Parts: sequence; structure tokens; C-alpha cells
Amino acid sequence: MTNPLFSDRLLDWFDQHGRKDLPWQQQPSPYHVWLSEIMLQQTQVSTVIPYYKKFTDRFTTISALANAPVDDVLALWTGLGYYARARNLHKAAIIMEESHQGQMPTSLDELVALPGIGRSTAGAIMALAHHQQFPILDGNVKRVLTRYSAIAGWPGNKQIENKLWLIAEALLPEHRIANYIQAQMDLGATLCTRSKPNCSSCPLNGDCQAYLNGNPTDYPTSKPKKHIPTRQSHWIVAQAATGEILLERRAAVGIWGGLWSFPELDNAKDIDHICTKHLSITTDSVTSLHTIKHVFSHFKLEIYPHLIQCELNNNYIAENKNLSWYKIDEALLLGLPAPVKSLIESLQ
Ligand code: ADE
Repeated sequence: MTNPLFSDRLLDWFDQHGRKDLPWQQQPSPYHVWLSEIMLQQTQVSTVIPYYKKFTDRFTTISALANAPVDDVLALWTGLGYYARARNLHKAAIIMEESHQGQMPTSLDELVALPGIGRSTAGAIMALAHHQQFPILDGNVKRVLTRYSAIAGWPGNKQIENKLWLIAEALLPEHRIANYIQAQMDLGATLCTRSKPNCSSCPLNGDCQAYLNGNPTDYPTSKPKKHIPTRQSHWIVAQAATGEILLERRAAVGIWGGLWSFPELDNAKDIDHICTKHLSITTDSVTSLHTIKHVFSHFKLEIYPHLIQCELNNNYIAENKNLSWYKIDEALLLGLPAPVKSLIESLQ
């Protein structure tokens, strides 16, 4: 026996388990659907509900919204975050007031032309408010479809996204489009969740490719991590027999700008030369300390500290205000990068 259609299984599931009492479902006018979809972007239903109620009490129509000062709109958005959403909502309301008699347009193209409305939000308005056959592709639906069809690749990638739009389009039912679109969102929000999907209760488990392969949580593929280059740095950790350490103030720009650190080299082979010719210290006793790894947003730093036990010598150093010997307790009062501070503490 073949499975009933994807959409029929989803609609049957919706009839039993779908959400039907959300405030925006009680008055699914184009304005209310639009407003709720914008508020629900990146924001949970439970957070949105009180904002949605206050907003619709104050701005009962698109015209009321368009004629309000933007500050009033932003005030009602306070705490919801992503304030560009509120500014775009207001701009779009003004455009509708001026060019669409205060009504939401009824075509996908006109909707997408409004500020803050992308193809998925426009699809939701077309389906939920205008009962037209249009798919959506929000985060929930991307998760459901990448699992159902075992689509590998990050859905933020245009090629993958195009493939998902085609699948979403091909699966659309001929009837009950509004319930079907709501069902997709509800399935994604309640069963087909990111880390612990409840596949045993899912109406799609008979032919969900990820479930049948035993790896639903491999989908959707995560955003590829940017390759972060690794840089090596060698530190001259000169310590005098009397305990002082030699520190150098780094240039004001770049990482750790203006902080005190150990004299630094790109290449270990230059240590002898720098110590004898520029720092006037002897390198008879050099010990490699543990490598320190430090991660910045754009690169990783591998630090090789070389402990050089020597005599305190100010020959060159005295003339350079950015180089100085410090007793350890004095050094710990300077502005120091965290790994420098830890290393100094370990020398105590
Ligand atoms: N997330 C986005 N749109 C939604 C809707 N209509 N119902 C519940 N959650 C949603």
C-alpha cells in the first residue's frame, strides 16, 4: 500500500495536533497575518503573543499604523528586538496607504516589493490570508523538508535553497492551503525539532529519508564554519636572576594594542640575534615553555614562549620607553593580555 500524500498526512496530523488557538488565527486578515509573521521572525510564539495583542489593540488597521509616528510603533516593539522589523513594517504600511488604498496587495510580486517582506513571508500571507497555493520556506519548513528528502548542504546556500523551494512547491495540496502551511510550521515547531525530533509520532516517518537512514539530526546541514588561519608567535620570556621580567608595550593598533606583553618574534631562529643585538641579554639558558593557544574571531594564535634566564641588563632597554624590566608584582598591575597574565603568574 502506498502512503497517502504528504499533504494529506500532514493535514490529518494538523486536525488532531495542530495549533488552532493562536491570536492571529482568530482574525486571519491579511494585515493580521502579515503582522504576526513579521513578529514571529526569530521570535517564539509565547514571546510574540502579548506584543501582538498590544499592537493590534493600538493599530487596528494598516491605515492606523501608517498614520502613526514611527516612534509609537517602535515603542510598542520595545523588548521584541530586531527593530528593523518595526521600521520596515511602518514603511510598508505607509506604502500600502499611499499606493494600495490601505490594503495588503494580493499578488506575491507586490508583496515581495514591500520593505521587510521576503518570499517566505509573502508566501505565508498568500496562503494563510488569501488562500492561494504558495509555499513558504522558513526555518521550520527548511528543517522538515531537508529531513524528509535527505537534502544535504547548508540551506542558506542559494542552490540548496532553490532545490527546497522546488520541493516545497511540488508538495503543495490543492485544498486547505492555509491549514497545510500552518501544519508545516507546527510540525517543525513541535515534532521535527532541531536536536530531539519526536520521529515516532511523526506522520511523515513512513517515507522521511533522514528518519529511514537513521540520521534526522544530520539535517539541515549547519552553516559552514569559516576557515580561521593559524599564526605562530614566539615570545621571549626573559627573567633576570633577581626575578624581574622583560616586557614590551605593544603598538596601539592591532590585537592587544597598547597592552604590555613579552617581546614577540615570528620566527624562533631570530631569538639569539634579537636577544644579543637588541635586548643585550645572553641566551645561555633557554627553556621552551608550554605552547599557549588563543582563538580570536579571525585567526588562531599559537604562542611558543621561550624562557631565557639571564642577567638584568639595561644597555639598550633604558632608551626605549616601550621596553622595561618589571618585578612580577608590578607587572601584574599593568594592562596585560590574558595569556600574558597567566604566564607571568606561573613565573612567580
Ligand atoms: N512561526 C511563523 N509563523 C507562524 C505561525 N503562523 N504560527 C506559529 N508559528 C509561526
